[in-house]
Amino acid sequence: MKILIVGSGGREHAIAYACSKSPRVDKIYCAPGNAGIAELAECVPIGAMEFDKLVGFAKENKIDLTVIGMDDPLVGGVVDAFEAEGLRVFGPRKNAAILEGSKAFSKDLMRKYNIPTAAYETFDSSEAALEYLERADYPIVLKADGLALGKGVLICDTKEQAKEGVKTLMLDKQFGDAGNTIVIEEFMTGREVSVLSFVDGDTIKIMSSAQDHKRAMDGDKGLNTGGMGNFSPSPYYTPEVDEFCRKYIYQATVDAMKAEGRPFKGVIFFGLMLTEKGPRVLEYNARFGDPEAQVVLPRLENDIIDVFEACIDGNLDKVDLRFEDNFCVCVVLASEGYPVAYEKGKPITGLENFKGREDYFCFHAGTKQSGGAIVTNGGRVLGVTAKGSSLSEARAKAYEATEWVDFENKYMRHDIGGNGENPLA
Ligand code: AMP
Ligand code: GLY
Repeated sequence: MKILIVGSGGREHAIAYACSKSPRVDKIYCAPGNAGIAELAECVPIGAMEFDKLVGFAKENKIDLTVIGMDDPLVGGVVDAFEAEGLRVFGPRKNAAILEGSKAFSKDLMRKYNIPTAAYETFDSSEAALEYLERADYPIVLKADGLALGKGVLICDTKEQAKEGVKTLMLDKQFGDAGNTIVIEEFMTGREVSVLSFVDGDTIKIMSSAQDHKRAMDGDKGLNTGGMGNFSPSPYYTPEVDEFCRKYIYQATVDAMKAEGRPFKGVIFFGLMLTEKGPRVLEYNARFGDPEAQVVLPRLENDIIDVFEACIDGNLDKVDLRFEDNFCVCVVLASEGYPVAYEKGKPITGLENFKGREDYFCFHAGTKQSGGAIVTNGGRVLGVTAKGSSLSEARAKAYEATEWVDFENKYMRHDIGGNGENPLA
């Protein structure tokens, strides 16, 4: 089979890795890809939002299956564009990707179908939002309705901050049209867990859980980032939590989407908060997480192509989804200064140290080829990943491997997967 993967980050590298293990796959293409993906796939210079070019490439090259990694093209309707030409594609259609594309939609869905989440109100005028803030409890959370690179969520401790936040989102339009509508919701506390799932419109199969570290600095300090590392499975995702979520969240979401005439096929990513009152949905994403894919997919025992096809064909109930009984830790090597300002174009050395090592992976997030060398090309550069029979072993191996590669301004957190004294921090 010929596979086309759409995207260019660590998540797409992990998807390419999983596809490369399938005996059914003869050739992988990735648009646009990156320097690491280029070792497994032929990278083609087409952007993820260039739907006509992507469809044209898939037709010309007789691609058997296209896998969409990123949120923007999904929310923009790339799956519909492929299907309109009779091409096989893995991911939700536009009318289902709205589960991630609009927070107001997803909150209304949860309210209508009694899926546990934070209490909220939706506003499309700043006057009404500001008026509501006068009588609200604090802290409070403001969310831009649309996609904002994971940055459209503001946690406000005081009324003044919240009013400033409404201005930032709705009047200054820091995230463009994503802030035309905002959701204002109850602030919750608890541990966060990421749960990815495969969905075929009717059936949902849960993948192994993961836990992200979103803040830039050790001890969960500093700014929010796209993710500085993570691990799988999460020790906080207990059988009790699993039972609750299966009963009230997972199938309920899939059934709700179907009932709304928006059957969801692809990956649903449940961002959960484990509150004192039980698990609550923080957000839905309509794709694999980044870096969740980097710690979950290396543990997948199934042939991923079988699973993708079962989702497309509606046979997921026949799939016995299995994960290795081990742990995986991914430490992100970033460019110093991320997520604010950082330099690019620094040569990366030592990548060859990962060759031929079974339990170690170096997923490329922001890299490119430049004059025969591989150089940094983003804030998050590499996801150094290792498997082990315990969380502490996987963690020790991942940190050992962070020493094998180097580039100027290399920056990482030192407490991904815990810090030794407090392994579950
Ligand atoms: P989201 O993009 O909706 O997942 O929000 C990004 C991050 O903001 C989450 O991972 C949480 O850490 C935080 N967050 C979102 N909603 C809430 C909430 N209602 N209460 C507390 N923290 C929240
Ligand atoms: N790691 C969070 C995300 O992919 O949205």
